[in-house]
Amino acid sequence: MSLVLQYNADLSGFNTLALPARAACLARPKTLDELEQVLAERDPQSPVYVIGEGSNLVIQEDLPGLTIALALDGMLKVRETDQHVWVAAGAGVHWDDLVAWTVEQGWQGLENLSLIPGTAGAAPFQNIGAYGVELAQVLEQVTVMEIATGKVTHFPAGECDFAYRDSRFKSRDKGRFIITGIELKLNRQAQCNISYGPLQQCFAGLAPGEVTAAAVREQVIAVRQSKLPDPAVLANAGSFFKNPVVSTEKAEALKEAFPQLVAYPQQDGVKLAAGWLIEAAGWKGKQLGPVGMHRDQALVLVNHGGATPSDVMALAAAVRTDVRQRFGVQLEQEPIVLP
Ligand code: EPU
Repeated sequence: MSLVLQYNADLSGFNTLALPARAACLARPKTLDELEQVLAERDPQSPVYVIGEGSNLVIQEDLPGLTIALALDGMLKVRETDQHVWVAAGAGVHWDDLVAWTVEQGWQGLENLSLIPGTAGAAPFQNIGAYGVELAQVLEQVTVMEIATGKVTHFPAGECDFAYRDSRFKSRDKGRFIITGIELKLNRQAQCNISYGPLQQCFAGLAPGEVTAAAVREQVIAVRQSKLPDPAVLANAGSFFKNPVVSTEKAEALKEAFPQLVAYPQQDGVKLAAGWLIEAAGWKGKQLGPVGMHRDQALVLVNHGGATPSDVMALAAAVRTDVRQRFGVQLEQEPIVLP
């Protein structure tokens, strides 16, 4: 088996915020057997960290123990009916390669999730979502390997505790499993979701059946590119905070004081646009040392070059405090912090 472990490995290419960090030991298993071997041969007393492309990560300091960046690839159609197609992908597949491939086949379901950075395996971890669609809506099952035992299990989507940017893998089972693959259920006939404002405008007058997944993908890419910085050009980890959900009373009081407030009613309260709160607090385009909140999307924290984790945390704390003092709303960080 050609398993190569890298010691004292540079992780600057494994986190899109481009923070300097090293892993005591980095493994890049390409098969389930290799992953099992890595787990079996590790020091069971040392921590294990699993990373994808690091697009939703703040690495605070060097990682001790074992860091695993899965290189399991492969995308294939596993079964089909007249209506649906089931597609499987290895955890290491670049997410947008999977979206592009399915859309090229004429299969519908992933187009709103176009261009989200990261891997297929990371997608269920935080239930990626954009432009009116969440992964949970198209996911059939997740395949995992238990770190302690090497046992492989499949979890149907209904057992994954999916919620807004959340899953069992991020909450109650944190650190227990490694996601090794996903299976998605896609449609043969387009039933695209164009409920998101800019998509609605773009496809106004067309019936849902007249909008193709390819056309939606094209629009989503255009919207993303107009608002969100490409991490390859300007280091960032996407939205740095979640959109907070507050009580209806709290939202009404805020709306009275700030009529422009962007708010979306939910089953369990009202979701506020964190980007609006941060912009209204004056942080859009503002820098604190080498880091800042992006000039086109105040929710995205960017590294203009040479930032350390403390720079990131200092800006995040300043924004959080300011928003809390002005609006009485607590912002919760979206990216995972390691170690
Ligand atoms: N807004 C502002 N100022 C800003 C940014 C946004 O006023 O600087 C307002 C916009 O005008 C809009 C509202 O806030 O009315 C929502 O903005 P947008 O549609 O850009 O989306 P978002 O709520 O800021 C969320 C996701 C994104 C996802 C978009 C599109 C979260 C934390 N973020 O952002 O996901 O792409 O919706 O669906 O839920 C990510 O998670 O990393 C991410 C980029």
